[in-house]
Amino acid sequence: MQHKERVFSGVQPTGNLHLGNYLGAITKFVALQESHECLYCVVDLHAVTVWQDPKELSHNIREVTAAFIASGIDPKAHIIFNQSQVAGHAELSWILNCVARMGWLNRMTQFKEKAGKHKENASVGLFTYPVLMAADILLYHATHVPVGEDQKQHLELARDIAQKFNVDFKEAIIASSNKEDGLFFPQPEPLIQGPATRVMSFRDGSKKMSKSDPSDLSRITMTDDADTIAKKIRKAKTDPEALPSEEEGLKDRPEAANLVGIFAALNNQSKTDVLKEYGGAQFSTFKPALAELAVAKISPIGNEMRRLMDAPDELDSILRDGANRANKIAEPILQKTKEIVGFIQ
Ligand code: AMP
Ligand code: TRP
Repeated sequence: MQHKERVFSGVQPTGNLHLGNYLGAITKFVALQESHECLYCVVDLHAVTVWQDPKELSHNIREVTAAFIASGIDPKAHIIFNQSQVAGHAELSWILNCVARMGWLNRMTQFKEKAGKHKENASVGLFTYPVLMAADILLYHATHVPVGEDQKQHLELARDIAQKFNVDFKEAIIASSNKEDGLFFPQPEPLIQGPATRVMSFRDGSKKMSKSDPSDLSRITMTDDADTIAKKIRKAKTDPEALPSEEEGLKDRPEAANLVGIFAALNNQSKTDVLKEYGGAQFSTFKPALAELAVAKISPIGNEMRRLMDAPDELDSILRDGANRANKIAEPILQKTKEIVGFIQ
């Protein structure tokens, strides 16, 4: 089936894949398969912007691949691949590095967070990371990009880069493609929706759940067994109040809001629906219900991931096949880009 709209998204193979990645991104990836042509990328080039142990990196690339498949992404109907196997990502990224402005990248809050106080010591790759992300999307002329809330600013940058390229090269675009509108790169639309676009840490409701939090209790990882999932929910930080009956009552209660959002996302409901049922309940009632739901949804995926990880050769061959198919889409777009820029082929 040919779809007009194309989805692209990526997940970094940096270990500790968690409930935030699953609810903020991967469940969306799964749902979009019905309506769109989808490419899902294990973004290993992004991962190495901070140090990765080579052995762990290979393991983590396979783990994200396994998580995609175990969650329900079909690698035959759609494309699962890793970024470093399609050279066009790095090539287009270079061209876009020359379109993006230092001032734009200086405004990126994720760089500031990740580089911390030691900006001088951060890799150059970490600084230009959002340009590579723009290249990922634009290389396929993707129209829709499902991500968690934390990627919103990077997507705005991708839109700005697409627009600047279209403006800078307007004449060449018209000359090379007979496209009177001069629009070569489409503006990608972010898809950031639902009750769990920013899942928070179980230890601190003001911090997002993250792979790099030193506390394992701060997150549920996709490979946690049932007992561990239940224990982490039982130990999650909360306040002493009962749950409110309306969403309004979650304001200023970040931990409660987080657990209700997770319940809603896992159960395909809105927060309002959850509070209709659990409004007035204490956490001593709500937490076991959430644990039961989380175990039912997450532990089968973890089990399937472990099964897939036992056959790394199969995962590798899925990635190679995905890269071949991705490259077929990317190649003509990259060639056209080079022609527009004025390179001789
Ligand atoms: P990363 O692990 O940084 O590659 O993130 C992969 C995807 O998960 C991206 O779409 C992120 O926006 C999303 N994501 C990461 N952490 C969270 C979180 N705590 N809540 C919701 N989405 C998240
Ligand atoms: N930067 C994204 C993250 O850390 C991952 C990513 C890389 C991505 N390239 C992308 C997401 C392209 C969407 C589209 O979460």
